[in-house]
Amino acid sequence: MKITWLGHAAFLLEGSAKVLIDPFLTGNPNAPVKPEDIKADYILVTHGHGDHLGDAVEIAKKNNAPIICIHELSRILAKYDVETMGMNMGGTARTGSIAVTMVPAWHSADVEDEKGNIISAGLPAGYVVSMDGVRVYHTGDTDVFLDMQLIGELHKPDVMLLPIGDYYTMGIAGAVKALELVKPKVAIPMHYNTFPLVEKDPEDFRKAVKAKGLDVEVVILKPGESYEYNK
Ligand code: NI
Ligand code: MN
Repeated sequence: MKITWLGHAAFLLEGSAKVLIDPFLTGNPNAPVKPEDIKADYILVTHGHGDHLGDAVEIAKKNNAPIICIHELSRILAKYDVETMGMNMGGTARTGSIAVTMVPAWHSADVEDEKGNIISAGLPAGYVVSMDGVRVYHTGDTDVFLDMQLIGELHKPDVMLLPIGDYYTMGIAGAVKALELVKPKVAIPMHYNTFPLVEKDPEDFRKAVKAKGLDVEVVILKPGESYEYNK
Protein backbone atom coordinates (compact mmCIF):
# COMPACT_ATOMS: atom_id res chain seq x y z
CA MET A 1 0.00 0.00 0.00
CA LYS A 2 1.23 3.45 -0.90
CA ILE A 3 0.58 6.06 1.78
CA THR A 4 0.93 9.71 0.77
CA TRP A 5 0.75 12.56 3.28
CA LEU A 6 -1.06 15.57 1.85
CA GLY A 7 -0.25 17.76 4.85
CA HIS A 8 -2.10 18.20 8.17
CA ALA A 9 -4.40 15.14 8.64
CA ALA A 10 -4.87 14.42 4.92
CA PHE A 11 -3.65 11.12 3.52
CA LEU A 12 -4.16 9.20 0.30
CA LEU A 13 -3.97 5.40 0.60
CA GLU A 14 -3.43 3.67 -2.73
CA GLY A 15 -3.67 -0.02 -3.47
CA SER A 16 -6.50 -1.83 -5.18
CA ALA A 17 -8.54 1.32 -4.40
CA LYS A 18 -7.75 4.96 -3.70
CA VAL A 19 -8.85 6.03 -0.23
CA LEU A 20 -8.63 9.71 0.65
CA ILE A 21 -8.82 10.76 4.31
CA ASP A 22 -9.56 14.28 5.67
CA PRO A 23 -8.81 16.22 2.45
CA PHE A 24 -8.07 19.70 3.80
CA LEU A 25 -6.24 21.18 0.81
CA THR A 26 -7.76 24.61 0.10
CA GLY A 27 -6.46 26.87 2.87
CA ASN A 28 -3.80 24.39 3.96
CA PRO A 29 -0.48 26.22 3.55
CA ASN A 30 1.37 22.87 3.16
CA ALA A 31 -0.99 21.19 0.69
CA PRO A 32 1.11 19.68 -2.13
CA VAL A 33 -1.84 19.24 -4.51
CA LYS A 34 -5.03 21.00 -5.53
CA PRO A 35 -8.41 19.37 -4.88
CA GLU A 36 -9.10 19.16 -8.63
CA ASP A 37 -5.96 17.02 -9.13
CA ILE A 38 -7.00 14.33 -6.63
CA LYS A 39 -8.33 10.97 -7.78
CA ALA A 40 -10.21 9.00 -5.14
CA ASP A 41 -12.65 6.09 -4.94
CA TYR A 42 -13.65 6.71 -1.31
CA ILE A 43 -13.38 9.73 0.96
CA LEU A 44 -13.22 9.29 4.72
CA VAL A 45 -13.89 12.25 7.00
CA THR A 46 -13.07 11.91 10.70
CA HIS A 47 -15.14 14.93 11.81
CA GLY A 48 -16.71 18.14 10.55
CA HIS A 49 -14.00 20.64 11.49
CA GLY A 50 -12.82 22.61 8.47
CA ASP A 51 -9.26 21.28 8.65
CA HIS A 52 -10.63 17.73 8.12
CA LEU A 53 -13.82 18.03 6.06
CA GLY A 54 -11.86 20.42 3.85
CA ASP A 55 -12.55 19.86 0.14
CA ALA A 56 -14.36 16.54 0.66
CA VAL A 57 -17.63 17.65 -0.98
CA GLU A 58 -15.95 19.05 -4.11
CA ILE A 59 -13.68 16.00 -4.52
CA ALA A 60 -16.59 13.60 -3.89
CA LYS A 61 -18.64 15.23 -6.63
CA LYS A 62 -15.79 15.33 -9.14
CA ASN A 63 -14.81 11.69 -8.55
CA ASN A 64 -18.28 10.31 -7.98
CA ALA A 65 -16.89 8.96 -4.72
CA PRO A 66 -18.91 8.38 -1.55
CA ILE A 67 -18.03 10.19 1.66
CA ILE A 68 -17.77 7.82 4.60
CA CYS A 69 -18.37 9.54 7.95
CA ILE A 70 -20.43 9.43 11.11
CA HIS A 71 -24.22 9.29 10.70
CA GLU A 72 -24.98 12.87 11.82
CA LEU A 73 -22.37 14.42 9.53
CA SER A 74 -23.57 12.24 6.64
CA ARG A 75 -27.07 13.71 7.03
CA ILE A 76 -25.64 17.22 6.79
CA LEU A 77 -23.42 16.39 3.78
CA ALA A 78 -26.22 14.59 1.92
CA LYS A 79 -27.83 18.04 1.48
CA TYR A 80 -24.88 18.99 -0.74
CA ASP A 81 -25.85 16.33 -3.26
CA VAL A 82 -23.03 13.89 -2.57
CA GLU A 83 -23.25 10.17 -1.93
CA THR A 84 -22.64 9.44 1.75
CA MET A 85 -22.14 6.32 3.83
CA GLY A 86 -23.11 7.31 7.36
CA MET A 87 -21.87 4.80 9.92
CA ASN A 88 -21.05 4.64 13.61
CA MET A 89 -18.53 3.46 16.22
CA GLY A 90 -17.42 -0.14 16.03
CA GLY A 91 -19.11 -0.70 12.69
CA THR A 92 -17.32 -1.79 9.54
CA ALA A 93 -18.28 -0.59 6.07
CA ARG A 94 -17.29 -3.19 3.47
CA THR A 95 -17.30 -1.77 0.00
CA GLY A 96 -15.33 -2.81 -3.07
CA SER A 97 -11.89 -4.02 -1.98
CA ILE A 98 -11.80 -2.09 1.30
CA ALA A 99 -13.18 -2.45 4.82
CA VAL A 100 -13.43 0.65 6.99
CA THR A 101 -14.04 0.37 10.73
CA MET A 102 -15.04 3.48 12.63
CA VAL A 103 -13.42 3.82 16.06
CA PRO A 104 -13.75 6.47 18.80
CA ALA A 105 -11.66 9.63 19.10
CA TRP A 106 -11.54 12.05 22.04
CA HIS A 107 -12.24 15.43 20.45
CA SER A 108 -15.26 17.55 19.44
CA ALA A 109 -17.09 18.16 16.17
CA ASP A 110 -19.17 20.79 14.48
CA VAL A 111 -19.62 21.99 10.94
CA GLU A 112 -20.37 25.35 9.35
CA ASP A 113 -23.18 25.47 6.80
CA GLU A 114 -23.26 27.76 3.75
CA LYS A 115 -25.03 30.47 5.77
CA GLY A 116 -22.29 30.46 8.39
CA ASN A 117 -24.40 28.64 10.99
CA ILE A 118 -22.45 26.36 13.29
CA ILE A 119 -24.18 23.00 13.58
CA SER A 120 -23.34 20.03 15.76
CA ALA A 121 -22.04 17.21 13.55
CA GLY A 122 -22.07 14.08 15.68
CA LEU A 123 -19.03 12.60 17.35
CA PRO A 124 -15.49 12.77 16.03
CA ALA A 125 -14.01 9.44 14.91
CA GLY A 126 -10.95 7.55 13.78
CA TYR A 127 -10.77 4.79 11.15
CA VAL A 128 -9.05 1.50 10.62
CA VAL A 129 -8.82 0.99 6.87
CA SER A 130 -8.13 -2.50 5.63
CA MET A 131 -7.04 -2.91 2.01
CA ASP A 132 -4.97 -5.61 0.27
CA GLY A 133 -4.17 -7.22 3.64
CA VAL A 134 -2.74 -4.03 5.17
CA ARG A 135 -4.44 -2.18 8.03
CA VAL A 136 -3.99 1.53 8.62
CA TYR A 137 -5.34 3.32 11.71
CA HIS A 138 -5.96 7.04 11.20
CA THR A 139 -6.79 8.30 14.70
CA GLY A 140 -8.45 11.56 13.61
CA ASP A 141 -8.01 14.45 16.03
CA THR A 142 -7.75 12.96 19.48
CA ASP A 143 -6.11 12.83 22.85
CA VAL A 144 -4.63 9.52 23.87
CA PHE A 145 -7.14 7.22 25.61
CA LEU A 146 -6.79 3.83 27.22
CA ASP A 147 -9.32 2.21 24.85
CA MET A 148 -6.73 2.60 22.08
CA GLN A 149 -5.40 -0.64 23.56
CA LEU A 150 -8.67 -2.33 22.47
CA ILE A 151 -8.35 -0.85 18.99
CA GLY A 152 -4.86 -2.36 18.83
CA GLU A 153 -6.03 -5.75 20.08
CA LEU A 154 -9.12 -5.98 17.88
CA HIS A 155 -7.85 -4.46 14.65
CA LYS A 156 -4.09 -4.99 14.80
CA PRO A 157 -3.14 -2.01 12.64
CA ASP A 158 0.16 -2.23 10.77
CA VAL A 159 0.46 1.51 10.32
CA MET A 160 -0.80 4.25 12.64
CA LEU A 161 -1.31 7.85 11.48
CA LEU A 162 -1.45 10.03 14.60
CA PRO A 163 -1.35 13.70 15.64
CA ILE A 164 1.62 15.13 17.52
CA GLY A 165 0.83 18.85 17.19
CA ASP A 166 -0.62 19.46 20.68
CA TYR A 167 -3.13 22.26 21.46
CA TYR A 168 -6.07 20.74 19.48
CA THR A 169 -4.92 17.14 19.94
CA MET A 170 -2.43 15.11 21.94
CA GLY A 171 1.17 16.23 21.71
CA ILE A 172 4.34 14.17 21.50
CA ALA A 173 4.14 12.56 24.97
CA GLY A 174 0.52 11.51 24.36
CA ALA A 175 1.37 10.16 20.92
CA VAL A 176 4.18 8.02 22.34
CA LYS A 177 1.76 6.60 24.91
CA ALA A 178 -0.74 5.91 22.08
CA LEU A 179 1.88 3.86 20.23
CA GLU A 180 2.59 1.92 23.42
CA LEU A 181 -1.14 1.05 23.64
CA VAL A 182 -1.82 0.27 19.97
CA LYS A 183 1.52 -1.35 19.05
CA PRO A 184 1.58 -0.71 15.30
CA LYS A 185 4.67 -1.60 13.26
CA VAL A 186 4.93 1.86 11.69
CA ALA A 187 3.88 5.31 12.91
CA ILE A 188 3.51 8.40 10.73
CA PRO A 189 3.00 11.69 12.62
CA MET A 190 0.46 14.26 11.39
CA HIS A 191 -1.44 17.40 12.46
CA TYR A 192 1.71 19.47 13.12
CA ASN A 193 3.49 22.47 11.52
CA THR A 194 0.38 23.56 9.61
CA PHE A 195 -0.25 26.57 11.85
CA PRO A 196 1.88 28.29 14.54
CA LEU A 197 -0.26 26.70 17.30
CA VAL A 198 0.73 23.18 16.22
CA GLU A 199 4.43 23.74 15.54
CA LYS A 200 6.42 20.66 16.49
CA ASP A 201 9.67 18.99 15.46
CA PRO A 202 8.79 15.45 14.35
CA GLU A 203 12.37 14.40 15.14
CA ASP A 204 11.54 15.00 18.82
CA PHE A 205 8.73 12.46 18.39
CA ARG A 206 11.12 9.96 16.82
CA LYS A 207 13.57 10.46 19.70
CA ALA A 208 10.83 10.04 22.32
CA VAL A 209 9.65 6.77 20.73
CA LYS A 210 13.23 5.49 20.70
CA ALA A 211 13.85 6.59 24.30
CA LYS A 212 10.78 4.59 25.35
CA GLY A 213 12.24 1.51 23.66
CA LEU A 214 9.15 0.91 21.51
CA ASP A 215 9.40 -1.49 18.59
CA VAL A 216 7.78 0.99 16.18
CA GLU A 217 9.34 2.48 13.08
CA VAL A 218 8.64 6.22 12.92
CA VAL A 219 8.31 7.41 9.32
CA ILE A 220 8.44 11.18 8.91
CA LEU A 221 7.02 12.42 5.63
CA LYS A 222 7.07 15.85 4.06
CA PRO A 223 3.74 16.95 2.57
CA GLY A 224 3.48 15.22 -0.81
CA GLU A 225 5.86 12.40 0.12
CA SER A 226 4.84 8.75 0.06
CA TYR A 227 5.71 5.67 2.05
CA GLU A 228 5.18 2.19 0.71
CA TYR A 229 4.11 -0.40 3.27
CA ASN A 230 4.25 -4.04 2.20
CA LYS A 231 3.65 -7.04 4.45
NI1 NI B 1 -10.72 18.94 14.90
MN1 MN C 1 -7.84 19.25 13.34
